[in-house]
Amino acid sequence: MITTSAADRARSLFTRRFGVPPAIVASAPGRVNLIGEHVDYTGGLVLPFAIDARAAVALGPSEDDRTTLCAPDLDTEMIHLGPPPRRPETESTRRFANHLLGVLHAAGGSETPIRALVTSDVPSGGGLSSSAAIEVAFATAWAGFTGGVSDPATIARLAMQAEHEFVGTPCGIMDMLVSAAGRAEEALRIDCRSVTWRPVPMPSEDRALVLLVDSGITHRLRDGGYAERRAACERAEAALGGSLRDATNDDIAAAALDATDRRRASHVVEENRRVDAMVAALEIGDLETAGRLLIDGHHSLRDRFEVSIPEIDHIVEIAERRRESGCLGARLTGGGFGGSALVLVTTETLEANRNAIVADFASRFERRPATRVVRASPGALLES
Ligand code: GLA
Repeated sequence: MITTSAADRARSLFTRRFGVPPAIVASAPGRVNLIGEHVDYTGGLVLPFAIDARAAVALGPSEDDRTTLCAPDLDTEMIHLGPPPRRPETESTRRFANHLLGVLHAAGGSETPIRALVTSDVPSGGGLSSSAAIEVAFATAWAGFTGGVSDPATIARLAMQAEHEFVGTPCGIMDMLVSAAGRAEEALRIDCRSVTWRPVPMPSEDRALVLLVDSGITHRLRDGGYAERRAACERAEAALGGSLRDATNDDIAAAALDATDRRRASHVVEENRRVDAMVAALEIGDLETAGRLLIDGHHSLRDRFEVSIPEIDHIVEIAERRRESGCLGARLTGGGFGGSALVLVTTETLEANRNAIVADFASRFERRPATRVVRASPGALLES
């Protein structure tokens, strides 16, 4: 099978649509979070990696008076007379444009009409940050086109602002930052308070791989559960009179919180610790410990943060039962309420475990889940 990269597709589809090549093409990856879930928006520690699936944006000046934003994957486009609008698009088939318009708005807007075309290999709804990939690809293209600032923290902040103001998702900075700054063969330990990061080695591929199992349940961060979790953390910080990042288990026990908010807060405190424990395990190649941390993290997301779903709990239970057979550990990855489970599996048992997980899932839920191995890959790139 011959496959073209998202960047090549964006370039050729742009040229076909407008009759001239784009001025610039940029691409950016989706992400998988190894651990550090639901802590980015309280300035916590996270450990995601950029994956080998990318979104791409081709961009150029308009040669008529119209701004045209195209999404051929969705078979739709937005046409606007004059420069790009500074307000979110509300018509449902054209909402994709908000990922681009939001970044433009955050970057100060455009005085002149533009043309942009976006295409992506990052599946949407699978918890792989397909939106962040598009926003970061567009922000990178825009910075290249205008000669603007393109360091990963700036790009990530523009993308996050676009999510908050134009897309309507109150997300943290993790997805965008790892999409902007990711590296081959490495995860990033990101301190979301200082917005600084450092690389951490992924398990070497001759020892272990990350297998993703898609629950088939589409996660939508706009649906309210995510904002509700974020609000619970904010209530906990108000009761603590300080950041959850600095809180201890004793602080949480002593704070005036209801039982639900106390569970949410204790997840955050423990999860920040698990990130540094995972970093230490990966740095010495201790995959046993890494796997156990994944499972502990999942139990906390399931029982304390309550963002898992039965399909993902089941995948993790299968993996736990198969620890003697090469499943090192597993957990929900991403915001939850759907999306994917990641399973850390020894390389030599990959296919046996993949088959066993798919068969077991299918016997319970009567459908075969999609699976893929994901590899840590470079972050945003301007394509030559
Ligand atoms: C989503 C958000 C991120 C982060 C995760 C949970 O992916 O976009 O900012 O909060 O959920 O860790």
